[in-house]
Formats: sequence, C-alpha cells, structure tokens
Amino acid sequence: MNEIAINIIPKPKHTERLNSSLNLNSIDSIHLENNTRYENFIGQLIKSFLKPIKELKIKHGKSNSSKKINISLNAKHKLKKEEYRLIIDDRKFITLEASHEPGLFYGFQSFRQLCDPMLEKGVVPKNLFIPSCIITDSPTFNYRGMHLDVSRHFFDVEFIKLYIDMIALHKMNVFHWHLTDDNGWRIEIKKYPLLTEKSAWRVDRRHEPWKEQSPIKANEKATYGGFYTQEEIKEVLEYASERNILVIPEIEMPGHTSEVFAAYPELSCNKKYIPVQPGSYWPGVDIFCAGNDEVFSFLKNVLEEVALLFPGPYIHIGGDEADKLNWRKCNKCQRRINDEGLKDEHELQSWFIKEIEKFILSKDKKLVGWDEILEGGLAKSATVMSWRGFKGGIESAKAGHDVIMCPVSHCYFDYYQSDPESAPAAAFGGMTTLKTVYSFNPIPKELDEKSSKFILGAQGNLWTEYVQTPDIAQYRVLPRMSALSEVLWSGPGSNTYEEFYFRLDKLKKRFDQLEWNYSPGSFEVKIKNLKSSDFSISLSSEHPGKEIYYTKNGSNPSQSSNVFISDFSIKETTTIKAALLQPDGTFGPISEKTFYLHNAVGNKISYNTKYAAKYSGSGENNLINGLIGSVNHNDGYWQGWEREDMEIIIDLKESKKIKSITCGFLESHNSWIFLPRTVYVSFSRDGKNFTHGSQKQMKEGKNYVAANRKEIVFENANQFARYILIKAVNRRTCPSWHAGNGGDAWVFADEIVIE
Ligand code: ACM
Ligand code: ZN
Repeated sequence: MNEIAINIIPKPKHTERLNSSLNLNSIDSIHLENNTRYENFIGQLIKSFLKPIKELKIKHGKSNSSKKINISLNAKHKLKKEEYRLIIDDRKFITLEASHEPGLFYGFQSFRQLCDPMLEKGVVPKNLFIPSCIITDSPTFNYRGMHLDVSRHFFDVEFIKLYIDMIALHKMNVFHWHLTDDNGWRIEIKKYPLLTEKSAWRVDRRHEPWKEQSPIKANEKATYGGFYTQEEIKEVLEYASERNILVIPEIEMPGHTSEVFAAYPELSCNKKYIPVQPGSYWPGVDIFCAGNDEVFSFLKNVLEEVALLFPGPYIHIGGDEADKLNWRKCNKCQRRINDEGLKDEHELQSWFIKEIEKFILSKDKKLVGWDEILEGGLAKSATVMSWRGFKGGIESAKAGHDVIMCPVSHCYFDYYQSDPESAPAAAFGGMTTLKTVYSFNPIPKELDEKSSKFILGAQGNLWTEYVQTPDIAQYRVLPRMSALSEVLWSGPGSNTYEEFYFRLDKLKKRFDQLEWNYSPGSFEVKIKNLKSSDFSISLSSEHPGKEIYYTKNGSNPSQSSNVFISDFSIKETTTIKAALLQPDGTFGPISEKTFYLHNAVGNKISYNTKYAAKYSGSGENNLINGLIGSVNHNDGYWQGWEREDMEIIIDLKESKKIKSITCGFLESHNSWIFLPRTVYVSFSRDGKNFTHGSQKQMKEGKNYVAANRKEIVFENANQFARYILIKAVNRRTCPSWHAGNGGDAWVFADEIVIE
C-alpha cells in the first residue's frame, strides 16, 4: 500500500514517508499520556472522527503496545507553540505529540487529512489505510487570519462556528470578526440597548443590487438584520479557543458608523437621525463627531464591555475610509483641532485614535486598525492591517509597528475568482484568482530582515456586500483560503502552484464530503471573444498543465475533441463547449458560450427609449453583439428598462430579406424583472415610415418562478427592410401578489437575433 500519497494542505515542513501503511481497523484504543483536559479534547476528536470504522475507547496513560493511538502533550518534547510531531509507525502505532495545545490540534488536522475523506461525512470509508510517516511541522507565520464582515449581511452563530471549522482545517489561527458597520450593529452592548434594538435592523432590499437600492420610504419596516447576544459570543469564543483560534473583535470608528446614528444621532456632527442603510452607503460622511466628549464616553463604555467579553490581546477599531467632510464643517470638531494644536482633519483622526488607544492600553489590550490610521500620525502601540496595497504595511514595519498584510490584490476574497458569467452570484468586482493568492508573499522586497520581523502574517478578508448567504460565503473563500493557508504555514514559494494544485484536487474531495461549497473557478475554461464585430476566440484556464478540449458543434468535449492550441476565428453562429481533462479521465465543468453571427452583428442600433444607466450590459451594441445572458441579470449581458417600454431601431445598413427575428428577455421575479406583455416588430426601408409587421404576447411564468430566459420568435417575417423597430411593452408595476406590489417593474433584454 506504499502508493498512498500524503496530500496535506497546508503542506507540512518535514515529512518522512515510511515504507508501509497502517490499517485504521487495526487500532483498538486511544491513550492519553498525561490525561490532561486538552489531550482528552483531541482524543475525543479522533474518537468521533474514526467512529464510522470502530468505537475506540479512551484510556489514561501511555501504552507501549501496538495498535494504539498515543496522545502526548508534554513540555519534554521541546516543540514550539504550534509545532507537532505525528508518527504513523510501521509497527501499527500512532503517536501524536506536542508541547503546547495548538500543536496537538494541528497534529490532529494533519492526521485527519491522511484519512479517507469519507470519514468527514461519518460513513465507513472505502480506504482504511493511511500512509506510515513521520511528520514534524510548524508554521512560518504566527498570524494566519480570516476576516468576516457580519454587518453587510448577517451570519448566525451556526455559520460562525462552521467558518471557524474552515479556519481550523487550514491550520489558521485568527478569526477577525467585523461586528459593526454602516449596515448593521451586531454585538449586544448592555449599556446601550438601542444599538441592537435599532442599529441592528434595516429595511430588506436584498432583491436589489447592493449599489443600486431604492430609497427607504416613510414607515417602511426594518425587518432584516440580527445581532449576537453576549452569551452567544461567549459560546463562539469557547468554540474558537478549543481550536486555538484567536478572535479579534472589530468596532469601527470614526467612520463606517452611520448605523449608530439610527439609535444615537446625537453622536454625529450634525446630530441627524439616519435609518440603517440597506445597501451601499457611500461616501460615508456621517461619522462620529470628534469634538464631542460624549462620543468618547460612549466608545469607552462600548469598548469596556468588548474588552471584558473578548479574552484575546487585540481590539480592532477600524479607522478606514472616514470621510472628513462633516469634520470640516463642524464647530466642535474645528474647536478640537484648535484646542489640541492639530494641523488638519487627518491629525484630528490621528488624535481620535490615540485617545482610544490610551483607553485600550488601560484595559491591557492592543489596538489594531486599518492602514488609514497612519494618516496624521500613527498611535505608538498600534498594529496595522495593510489593505490598500503593501505600502502602509511597509511604512509601519519600517517604523517598528506590527503589521498584518491583507492587500486587496491578494487577500480580498469578496472579489471574483473566475469569469463573472459563471459565478453563482455577483461579487464586489475585481478579480483575485487562486493562482494570484498562491503567489502572495506577505513580506515585500522593500523590507530588510529586521523590519520583516514586524510582519506578523496575513489574512483573507471577506466583505459581504455581495455575500447574502452562508453558501456564497463558503464559495468565496474556498479554495482561495486553502492557497493562503499554505502561503502562511508552509511559507511563500515553498512549493510550486502546480504541486499545490495536485493536493488541492484531493482536498476538494474532503470539501465535497463536508458539503462545503467551493468555487471551481480554476477548473473552468474561460471562453473569450477578443473582437467586437466578428469573433476571435481564446480559451484559457488556471489549472496547471491541463489540455483544454473543445467542440464547435454543441457536443460535450471528449477525448476525440480538438485540443486548444491557439486563438481561432469563427464565421457562423457557433456554440463552443470547452473543458479540462481531469486526472480520473473525466472532463471538468463544461464552459459553454454561443456566438450568434447573425445579420445585426456589427451593425447599428439606436434607442428610442434608453436603457437604465445602471443596467447597460456591454453598452450601445449590447443587443446586437452576438452574445446572450445567463439568468443572472448582473452578468454584463443584460440591459434593463424601469417602468418604461423598450423601443429600439436596428439599422442593417442596407435593405435585406429578413426571415426571422428572435428577442431574448429575462424573467426574474425576485429582482422585479418581468417579461414584457407584448412585443411588436415593424419594418422600414428609409428609417421614417414603418409598416407594422406583427405582434406577440408573452406568457408569464408562475409567481416567483425560478429566474429564466425566454425568447420570442417572429418566424417567416418575410420582409425586405433596412430598419427594424422593436418595442417590448413593460407591465409598468409589480403585480399585487409580488413583494413590490405597485412598485416599478423592469424589462430586461440581452440580444435581438436577426436572420
Ligand atoms: C476596507 O476594506 N475598507 C478595510
Ligand atoms: Zn463634529
């Protein structure tokens, strides 16, 4: 059984493969050398993990006979804090040893990854053998974090624990909990009950894109949100602590705080009530008044409770993106600048943070903030999270401050990781692929050895504007988190992307068994058109070394299909299907794109009614670019008309015989998008006098039918014309059965195919 490979992520530092393998069925008990609480915790984890194979007894004291698992937590091993040794002995003997609790936990994570993934699901595995080996392992970076924003969308305690499980599997050790922001306050503060009564709730606009939400109407109820009670937070902290995960709470200030003013408006500069925002709040001008002493009493009272609740050494105070507009206009803020001898509003922000720093230090905690806290002078003891690139981190490390790297370029997991078109939901924008994450080095070249010591590590950030559900949250972070974990544990550049990818293929099987959602982004083939008037097709993927197979006749790729070598052009309507050959001989996810080379492609279109600026698709030629959309109205292929009819004229540049016209429309009730009631076509040779051709009714789907694309076809048009006018009649308002009853209805179109 020597062929069983070791495929652990993050890859251990030292692995010696021994010349045999061990049948898990031969193990008969688990032994705790010192019978400590933590040995018992790990013993229970192993017992429960192996339960599908057999029920193992946990016994006290070390065993020297074979067929045993020995767990030893003991200083005598002289292992570092997070270091462990895992021995799968040739004599059917498993030893897991560490000198500190974290090491023991990571040893279990490695053991787990040696076992058949089916055990994750609690079923008897096909393969009972694990490879004999000696693994001695410890991390490169001390700080290996994952962030989660629970303000933009709320995630319940059950998901928070699952997120912690994901962090744990990857041997990461920090959970940065972004608890407050413009879209909701999520932590119970006993002294200020209105923060959770009012600031945790907003009107529900989840059916609208984040940046395009309709204004809040008078008397509209705030029904979306939630918060964690202090009891729930203690439960999460306990769960995280057992898994050696430090939880860093973030309480934003002075900006990203407008939600507070739904409850305590007196704390902003203009003391104005504003409802909790259901979507993008930008620019964020409503921030805490830096001239008002009550603000500091409030914040200190809040932080007092936070410091008592969270046992870890850090409190994150945000500090990012505070728009200083109101500080410039506010008498109190200006008086503060004057009284404290400050130069400008940046120094006022710096003064603000330093006030808070004093308080945090008095509670024996350390302050962490986003890199904006550098502006106007950095607080002496602050740790900086460098997100706007590496620059803030470099500057801070040179000045002797601890730094956590999380540049948008490599660590923003709210960005797309593959083609937006195939993504299950719209992302924030941007693109951070798996390969990009794997190429990350938290230590920039600009730092010498001495300054490099201040880079504690890095973290992946998951902002949740475009993450409405736990499923999408998992999809966003997996498998990019796997790549980041290896950068931080094994060390940047210690393995090749290709070799990592091989192991990731195995880890994916574990995700499948755990029913963790992950992005197949890098397994997908990207089909791209390089031109606008005709088609030059390019195929690519991030999967290392794999050949791309494709077809042009609508059939699924197979061994006998073409292998992609270089860009090719197409001269007629063509469906391209492309996929990668998987290691097991099957083909990966099939990417598909049809390029419609019809009579209107490359011609002119004019709009009698203009599409909404926010739904412009690919712009002016969208409806005649030969490309159709998915059922995602934000995929870049759809144009939308709000309450208005769509009315367009296509100019074929010369009169032609027209056989058929096919119009594509979207039906997506959750997004307030309905099929047009009626579609009319008319024809003209001069562009002035149109003769009516025909009209057709469209049949709507059932209430809240799943989003779908429908075509309406005008066949046998039998016309000779240069100009074609198409009008799609909007139903104008949402019907009475719909949540948006009486509100504006949309018509969405993607392509007018003219043959
Ligand atoms: C941030 O992304 N505003 C820290
Ligand atoms: Zn002010």
